[in-house]
Amino acid sequence: MSDQPGKAPRETPRWREDFPVRWEQDHYVTRRELAKFLTLGSALLATAGVVIAAVGRWGRREEKVPDVKVASASSVPVGGSALFRYPTSGDPCILVRGQDGSLRAFSQVCTHLSCAVVYHAESDELFCPCHHGIFSAKDGRPIAGPPVRRLPMIQVELRGDDVVAVGKDAS
Ligand code: FES
Repeated sequence: MSDQPGKAPRETPRWREDFPVRWEQDHYVTRRELAKFLTLGSALLATAGVVIAAVGRWGRREEKVPDVKVASASSVPVGGSALFRYPTSGDPCILVRGQDGSLRAFSQVCTHLSCAVVYHAESDELFCPCHHGIFSAKDGRPIAGPPVRRLPMIQVELRGDDVVAVGKDAS
């Protein structure tokens, strides 16, 4: 068969010149081999994901925040509050003393859009003036307004008259 009418047939068809791979040189990949490769690849990726997540959790658990004196207990009256920064100077927090006399501390950064919350002693709530978000001053959970995540609590201990921050909830 000729490539062009009126001409003698060529020995090597045109397509073979364009695709010169010979069958015996071709590398076969069967469906079974491809499936095995994809299965092993998926298993490796899944294992790598589990290892990375475990390493991430382990790193967070090891993160230790320092103990820091944040206020004098005698300077915070019942229904009062005091501001401090913990664990870094870029983390504003608020210490409140409820009507029952207990001291509790929270991040002061509203979980909606990061405005600073203030303490309302009469209702024992933390109020965000930006969009009227309200949090419980007992545990930081959102009560009203747009926030849906609770305020992280700061763990505090009384050491004599010192109020010492010893840890912070994960945000
Ligand atoms: S920033 Fe606090 S309610 Fe929006």
